[in-house]
Amino acid sequence: MKKLCLLGLVATLATHPVWAETKPAVLKDKDAFVSELLKQMTLDEKIGQLRLISIGPEMPRELIRKEIAAGRIGGTFNSITRPENRPMQDAAMRSRLKIPMFFAYDVIHGHRTIFPISLALASSWDMDAIGRSGRIAAQEAAADSLDITFAPMVDISRDPRWGRTSEGFGEDTYLVSRIAEVMVKAFQGTSPANADSLMASVKHFALYGAVEGGRDYNVVDMSPVKMYQDYLPPYHAAIKAGSGGVMVALNSINGVPATANTWLMNDLLRKDWGFKGLTVSDHGAIFELIKHGVAKDGREAAKLAIKAGIDMSMNDSLYGKELPGLLKSGEIQQSDIDNAVREVLGAKYDMGLFKDPYLRIGKAEDDPADTYADSRLHRAEARDIARRSLVLLKNHNDTLPLKKSATIALVGPLAKAPIDMMGSWAAAGRPAQSVTLLDGMNAVIGEKGKVIYARGANITGDKAVLDYLNFLNFDAPEVVDDPRPAQVLIDEAVSAAKNADVIVAAVGESRGMSHESSSRTDLNIPQSQRDLIKALKATGKPLVLVLMNGRPLSILEENQQADAILETWFAGTEGGNAIADVLFGDYNPSGKLPITFPRSVGQIPTYYNHLTIGRPFTPGKPGNYTSQYFDDTTGPLFPFGYGLSYTQFSLSDMALSSTTLNKTGKLDASVTVKNTGKVDGETVVQLYIQDVAGSMIRPIKELKNFQKVMLKAGEARTLHFTITEDDLKFYNAQLKFAAEPGEFNVQIGLDSQDVQQQTFELL
Ligand code: BGC
Repeated sequence: MKKLCLLGLVATLATHPVWAETKPAVLKDKDAFVSELLKQMTLDEKIGQLRLISIGPEMPRELIRKEIAAGRIGGTFNSITRPENRPMQDAAMRSRLKIPMFFAYDVIHGHRTIFPISLALASSWDMDAIGRSGRIAAQEAAADSLDITFAPMVDISRDPRWGRTSEGFGEDTYLVSRIAEVMVKAFQGTSPANADSLMASVKHFALYGAVEGGRDYNVVDMSPVKMYQDYLPPYHAAIKAGSGGVMVALNSINGVPATANTWLMNDLLRKDWGFKGLTVSDHGAIFELIKHGVAKDGREAAKLAIKAGIDMSMNDSLYGKELPGLLKSGEIQQSDIDNAVREVLGAKYDMGLFKDPYLRIGKAEDDPADTYADSRLHRAEARDIARRSLVLLKNHNDTLPLKKSATIALVGPLAKAPIDMMGSWAAAGRPAQSVTLLDGMNAVIGEKGKVIYARGANITGDKAVLDYLNFLNFDAPEVVDDPRPAQVLIDEAVSAAKNADVIVAAVGESRGMSHESSSRTDLNIPQSQRDLIKALKATGKPLVLVLMNGRPLSILEENQQADAILETWFAGTEGGNAIADVLFGDYNPSGKLPITFPRSVGQIPTYYNHLTIGRPFTPGKPGNYTSQYFDDTTGPLFPFGYGLSYTQFSLSDMALSSTTLNKTGKLDASVTVKNTGKVDGETVVQLYIQDVAGSMIRPIKELKNFQKVMLKAGEARTLHFTITEDDLKFYNAQLKFAAEPGEFNVQIGLDSQDVQQQTFELL
């Protein structure tokens, strides 16, 4: 037997008498500690650890504390302040074995300070900025007593009809995988046991972004090669980066719900990938196995889930109700329950909670006097990161940047929309603390110029859509509707425009339109706003569109109408300031699209790295019998990787160090990028590779590397990219990850379409 090594009591515990008096020894050896504890637990206590409950304002706190003290709850989510969570931890310390609770929350893109939505963060292509956002989110959340977040969300999404596109990092496997790693490391810091770290739980495992038709919660049916090649790597990257948890997806995969999927949860996750952490079902997902039609009742649902390896059950009571009976009848084994409990205890151990259950709760006397105090926010960082996430899509005749001395008509339903600025899943962010575009522009312009504001249009003129968007908001409607007739709003905006030098129209989606369950059949800006844009265009004044939205929209017509378009997604607490910085040229935009903008919804999917086909459409050679839609131009409106700047960049010819590559060798691809314009700026130089002929069809290109560089006006820099055999590997028909000798094209460019190419051979 292993020798057990005891750690001394942690000094801070002395302030928590209940725990300090009876605290069990905290062992250095995690496995031994967990096994020892497991031996002491009753079946009830074990099953209690598997229960993760949501705490709502309506819930009877006293009853919850009783349940905790009886050892019947392992963790909560949605209770997010120290004063809220302390009594629950106290209750856990009164339980027989004093197993600490953990407190979870959806800290997705910020906690109190809200950073741009994930899709926007990805648009920055700036790993440092993305990492900073995650670190600050973790610090803020940990300071509010939270231990674990249900993030990062790394579902590849190639169908923008899916509302949760906003929550992910876009369409590309390589980019999302890089961000997955950065986010896990940012949340967890040097260790999830640190007082200022959160444990990450990557979600939604797996393939949730590929729901059929972009309709939320729908089925996923996908070939194994596509899964391994395109959709699974981001989860794997998060796990390799040390994600302590995994949240299981709500969808089915090739006929088996993820929550009951032993191949997914056991063979792939635990055996092949060696994951040793906590798995958590999504909200009510075990119960939904009945709805999926794979379990005839709650008993079978619980059995399928525990057998598949779902450790914790989020907000359904089936484990508590059914596991004892299942065990008694021999339908499940003690080891099924023990394995799950072991992971819960192990995660708590890794969060540092056995050493100090109050690690993140702290002492009552240190609680913030005002949880919502502005001084607790990280505004400067939020502004900086938000600026980096904005993408300039069009800038005809240098309409932007605007002059600070100008008279500007600021119109549109999103110009003064503090809730929308924060995007969906805005954690503990307060709309009242977010800077609207109107606030931001007024602050930047000061006394020099003038902003004339008019609402111009409602988010939607469709009552049914409005009701849908507001149906969850019990206190006050999230989408405010101006009751005046649409034409009155438009007339007011047009008259503002006529008195201005330039129009800025903040249009797009309300945040609820790009949210869980908010799938769309149509990617247009709602008609009420399109009518406004048309009327504004008719004034003849320069028209700048500031888009706010959580997914690519089809803005074909708006692209013709507008002189400039800035994609701002939902830019967070400091969004208004950040957007104003870009509009007035105090920051030169540097974002690039992490997802393709289709011309129309009918083109979907439009991701850039599709597989090669036998009859590709050839630009400039229209005609029959090639792959195209004959009724529209082929290709996206804006490609993956695209984004403009207030300066221009040129690329020299690419130099390849050799035209051959050995299996163990390295190839250097270099290019000199020059800022040929008049202002300093940043751009992203992207490297793509195409496997020209393989044992299987390969994509037309795949992103394999990129560098974001800051160049002063006139400055040039040579960038080097190393290519090794690893960059050329793919999953073949036998799901073997290997590179095949032969010819490869390497492409370098400032977006995925406008590239130069050279060829080399893998020997
Ligand atoms: C979502 C998850 C989220 C969970 C808890 C579910 O509806 O699918 O992403 O983590 O709720 O809030």
